Amino acid sequence: MTDTILVAVAWPYANGEPHLGHVAGSFLPADIFARYHRQAGNRVLMVSGSDMHGTPTALIAQAEGVSPEVVATRYHEQFVEMIDRFGFSYDLYTHTDTANHARVSQGIFSGLLKNGYLYESTASMPYCLEEQRFLSDRFVTGTCPICDFDKAGGDQCDNCGNTLDASDLIEIRCVTDGSTPEFRDTNHYLFKLSAFTEKLIEWVSAQHHFRPQVRNMSLAMLRGGLPDRAITRDIEWGIPVPDEIEGYEHKRIYVWFEAVIGYLSASIEWAEASGDPDAWEAWWKDPAARSYYFQGKDNIPFHAIFWPATIMGLGEERGLNLPYDVAANEYLNYEGGAFSKSRQWGVTAADALDRYDADALRYYMSATMPETSDSDFTWATLLSRNNDELVATLGNFVHRVLSMVARNFDGAVPPRAATDETDADVLAACETAMEEVGRQIRDRKFREGLRLIMGLARDGNKYVDTKAPWKTAKTDMERTGTTLSIGIEIAATLRTLIYAYMPTSAQNLHKLLGAEGEVIDLGWTRPTPGAGRQLPVPRPLFKKLDDSMVAEELARHESPTPARA
Ligand code: MF3
Ligand code: ZN
Repeated sequence: MTDTILVAVAWPYANGEPHLGHVAGSFLPADIFARYHRQAGNRVLMVSGSDMHGTPTALIAQAEGVSPEVVATRYHEQFVEMIDRFGFSYDLYTHTDTANHARVSQGIFSGLLKNGYLYESTASMPYCLEEQRFLSDRFVTGTCPICDFDKAGGDQCDNCGNTLDASDLIEIRCVTDGSTPEFRDTNHYLFKLSAFTEKLIEWVSAQHHFRPQVRNMSLAMLRGGLPDRAITRDIEWGIPVPDEIEGYEHKRIYVWFEAVIGYLSASIEWAEASGDPDAWEAWWKDPAARSYYFQGKDNIPFHAIFWPATIMGLGEERGLNLPYDVAANEYLNYEGGAFSKSRQWGVTAADALDRYDADALRYYMSATMPETSDSDFTWATLLSRNNDELVATLGNFVHRVLSMVARNFDGAVPPRAATDETDADVLAACETAMEEVGRQIRDRKFREGLRLIMGLARDGNKYVDTKAPWKTAKTDMERTGTTLSIGIEIAATLRTLIYAYMPTSAQNLHKLLGAEGEVIDLGWTRPTPGAGRQLPVPRPLFKKLDDSMVAEELARHESPTPARA
């Protein structure tokens, strides 16, 4: 049966260069998942885009003395380039500053209003006396009342992840000039989140396939009680409030309210571009379709609470599917500290890709993906995992098999004669790997999936060691041929298995196996080249890195000590 799968990837803020934290947190797991499901023959739609609005972008624009569009577009383009270089397989990567997104977002705003879930109220908001303006969200900072972190924002604390109102902040100040704002009344629309608390508790409690930390964090927030939240702001950068609402000409829709709508608007944009404007409905309205939202843990409240509440508020007549899974990762740190632009700690995606192959980085980050706890990117582990695992285990296995075929059989796949128990065992391991790796990826356990793949490569090496075809070649060509034919079958299995993790290397291996076309066209099968098939001259799949790279990379930092958040 064909499944219909929406792969919804968190929309990165267009306010900084893409770095490897973005890659490991959401882009890479989403891509592995999407690629696997396409291999498995399922109908996949993978969408995302840059989150153009919001106060962080406006703040940078202010500091640079340019318009927010200039800043957002600059970083959006960098994300587009990074996606291309890493081979992330989006059906559509768009951004939130499109007419389509504004229309869909305003439609949802109006829909919630009509259903009675939005109401107007006077809200007390910080107002900067120096600048004579209201300060929303990241234009103020202060101490988090929940965890005491002293650089919390006006909408969320980056330390504990709780969503906040500016009035919750202790010792609130203006980030532009450090002055203490005064609270003044201003009119806003509030989203009646409180109306959904019970329903959401019931819904989240029933999602046993959520990772435990996602389920627990969401339930803790819900049990703490959901206050209604303002979803308009006194700013200029953002999506205008629907025309029919008077007095809001100078206000904008709150960035988080519209950003999560991006999943839907991007699906609609994709459908329109595909020539079938209703095509998006298969992923959003068919109750059998499943949606998986990939993101970092700070995004959990928005995907497990706000977005489901929005969908619930639109009601049955819209009939939009709730998220099936909120696949939130923990954080990837960098050399012992948090990735931080302001503290210049980390490595941008562009720098990493200039110096290392995309697949080597994809491999390392898949192997250390922060699925259940934070993990650490270090150059020393990139080196060792690349050299000891990718090159010495996987690459070496493929290369020794193909080289022996070249040497002993003029590069033609040898025929397979009678097989013994050792042969049967390793062939069974190929079958098991197909089943188990597929299961782990479906369950969003990407590290485990990759570990099993490397286990098969190790089995392959052990098999070749045991059968010693370089020895049997002196006495028994039939046995040698059988061993190498089975070696090729293991390599062909690995080609299918690594595709989701390392698509370029999978395609290179496919070619080395003398196959035509694209790996994706094989589906989740492992066809092996038949006897007599002429193989090209073998070339190594992966590049060994020089030990000196670790010191070179670390020397790029002005300060050798990790920055702590
Ligand atoms: N821009 C947000 C961030 O980087 C994520 C937005 S995800 C969305 O944390 F769903 F709201 F778009
Ligand atoms: Zn906090």
